[in-house]
Amino acid sequence: MRTIKLGESGLNVPAVAVGCMRINGLDAAGAERFVQTAIDEGAVFFDHADIYGGGTCEEIFAKAVHMTPSVREKLFLQSKCGIRPGVAFDFSREHILNSVDGSLKRLNTDYLDVLLLHRPDLLVEPEEVAEAFDTLQQSGKVRHFGVSNQHPMLIQLLKKYVKQPFVANQLQLSITNATMLSQTLHVNMLDDAALSRDGNVLDYCRLNNITIQPWSPFQYGFFEGVFLGSEKYPELNAKIDELAEKYGVSNTTIAMAWLLRHPANMQPVTGTMNIQRLKDCVKAAEIRITREEWYAIYLAAGNDLP
Ligand SMILES: NC(=O)c1ccc[n+]([C@@H]2O[C@H](COP(=O)([O-])OP(=O)(O)OC[C@H]3O[C@@H](n4cnc5c(N)ncnc54)[C@H](OP(=O)(O)O)[C@@H]3O)[C@@H](O)[C@H]2O)c1
Repeated sequence: MRTIKLGESGLNVPAVAVGCMRINGLDAAGAERFVQTAIDEGAVFFDHADIYGGGTCEEIFAKAVHMTPSVREKLFLQSKCGIRPGVAFDFSREHILNSVDGSLKRLNTDYLDVLLLHRPDLLVEPEEVAEAFDTLQQSGKVRHFGVSNQHPMLIQLLKKYVKQPFVANQLQLSITNATMLSQTLHVNMLDDAALSRDGNVLDYCRLNNITIQPWSPFQYGFFEGVFLGSEKYPELNAKIDELAEKYGVSNTTIAMAWLLRHPANMQPVTGTMNIQRLKDCVKAAEIRITREEWYAIYLAAGNDLP
């Protein structure tokens, strides 16, 4: 698969990442087929979190891939920490270190390529994050660090203490959840689209070489449903279907190609557990829709121009 540079990590990673949040919906044989298909397709960057399936997603993945050192070295494994069910959020040194140990055990590996802080912790003490990252880097347990769902100012606060570069910021972004784009267009206007909900995180990440990893690339709302084929988005689906026909690909491929066309070189994280849809997502890395098509999709989703 086409690769992109992941932030300042020095890693060249597949342009499409495979999210494993839903892998606990498959049985063992299905998980094995799914993971093997991903690897065969060159989709060897897998996104995890300590909390997915209460930890079972990491375990299911490790069994499905038949983790051994020689398998491990072909993969990029990313996991996340910082969400604590029953509490809320926890970026304390102790929690970060314990969480990584848990992920390593469940993934049956001795290192993560990337660790992300999952969601902002209101009680964050950045000095503790810095200590935890140093410990994890020195022990070899984590090679690169990043964040998820984090505002530029919080990243700046962390950067005051953390010496490792943040290589990724995983953020909700899809054709139908594109506020980070629309606010840029509606600068200084009085309508809702002009509201800066994220501190201009898109521009911030581009300026600081932080790769944006769009999560839930096919969902509208907050896990409300899939916009492809949805009667809520007739105009959008008509436009996507028209382009799918033109390129001879599926609607899934076109929706993914829309994210990949953005010049920020984002790395979308798929969530499908369906083998054909996974292949369709991977295929998107091969096609480049035109500027006119990109805007036509943006507008068909209900976004407007100033
Ligand atoms: N950092 C964060 O806070 C955060 C939050 C959420 C998720 N994530 C990461 O992002 C990944 C993706 O999230 P997601 O799973 O919500 O993403 P998604 O790809 O937008 O949604 C996947 C779901 O939509 C269904 N789907 C996808 N395409 C479809 C289509 N064309 N028609 C019908 N159904 C379709 C899938 O069903 P099938 O399996 O049947 O295809 C699956 O249930 C997760 O695995 C996780 O790694 C991160």
